[in-house]
Amino acid sequence: MQFFLDTANIDDIRKYASWGIVDGVTTNPTLIAREGVDLKTRILEITKVVDGPISSEVIATDSEGMIKEGRKMAKWHKNVYVKIPMTSEGLKAVKILSSEGIHTNVTLIFSASQAVMAAKAGATLVSPFVGRVDDISGDGMYLIQEIVTIFQNYGFMTKVLAASVRHPKHVVESMKLGVDIATMPPNIFDKLVSHPLTDKGIAAFLADWEKCKDCQKPY
Ligand code: E4P
Repeated sequence: MQFFLDTANIDDIRKYASWGIVDGVTTNPTLIAREGVDLKTRILEITKVVDGPISSEVIATDSEGMIKEGRKMAKWHKNVYVKIPMTSEGLKAVKILSSEGIHTNVTLIFSASQAVMAAKAGATLVSPFVGRVDDISGDGMYLIQEIVTIFQNYGFMTKVLAASVRHPKHVVESMKLGVDIATMPPNIFDKLVSHPLTDKGIAAFLADWEKCKDCQKPY
């Protein structure tokens, strides 16, 4: 199970990478625009902080344009994964790029059939958007379950990346279902780590320790 950060904020990427548990980074045009930075510069900055797959999304919507952008991005750094939206044009691009050994992450997946089509085209990763499915009263975790089961049934090598994660439960449930990767915004990393009983326990230990001066001989 790998954990990716879903952000283009370099300070956050540095902060959470220092915890030693960030295996990769996903970005999208919205996240890059939020930072107001040049795409190539930011992706290269990220590659210096995290040694793992870094998703960079194409802007073109036609296969030729996607392939052109994807080939350029793949030359930026060996860890760049070309993120391609799930459309028929996207599938054509994935087929060509994967045949050239370029890693792809097919994004905006909202059905098991879309995931299967992407896997058949040779996608390295598929990104089902759990939170956005839940947002419209669907069942994001059921979508994950369907994709994981189908990929296992047929031995697809494509990895399942749970995206659009909104809370720690999405992460834990995804892991129980056997997803390969969860990508999440920085605040979810904090929520995965903290627990009020841990904080309470530490405070109680320190308070008790303070009361016992004999216990505190230097060692
Ligand atoms: C995944 O790669 C996407 O960037 C991301 O998870 C989308 O999440 P959102 O639905 O919170 O925008």
